Amino acid sequence: MGEEGVGRFSVSLNKGLLRQLDKMTREKGYDNRSLAIADMVRSQLVEHRLETVDGEAAGSVTLVYDHHSPRVQESLTGMQHKFREMIISTLHVHLDHHNCLEVLVVRGKASAIKMLADRLIGAKGVKHGKLSITGTGKDLPA
Ligand code: NI
Repeated sequence: MGEEGVGRFSVSLNKGLLRQLDKMTREKGYDNRSLAIADMVRSQLVEHRLETVDGEAAGSVTLVYDHHSPRVQESLTGMQHKFREMIISTLHVHLDHHNCLEVLVVRGKASAIKMLADRLIGAKGVKHGKLSITGTGKDLPA
């Protein structure tokens, strides 16, 4: 609970939407609708902020690639050295004989993170990649 206490407002939803909200609230294990809605609001606030203010952000970039693919490792390692100040941590897992999974934890300006993720994901030989980006939590009430 934030130090400002709780504010209340009423929301009108059509019954179908409300039923689905309550079903999702139960399935996701929230104690009540208000907690579920608060998380949805936080998620939208983070996204809105990342879209409108180029603020401090953090996230992870997940990459899957075949390490036999020519020059993919040199290319990814080169980029990681170049952007080492944004990359906090990396995890490498050898998934099978061919495929590697790499997870890079990154922080920096939202625009810089997106640019770095695009370059990593777009590198030749990367089969699949995904960026998960969030705020640093500083400006977000619990
Ligand atoms: Ni590997």
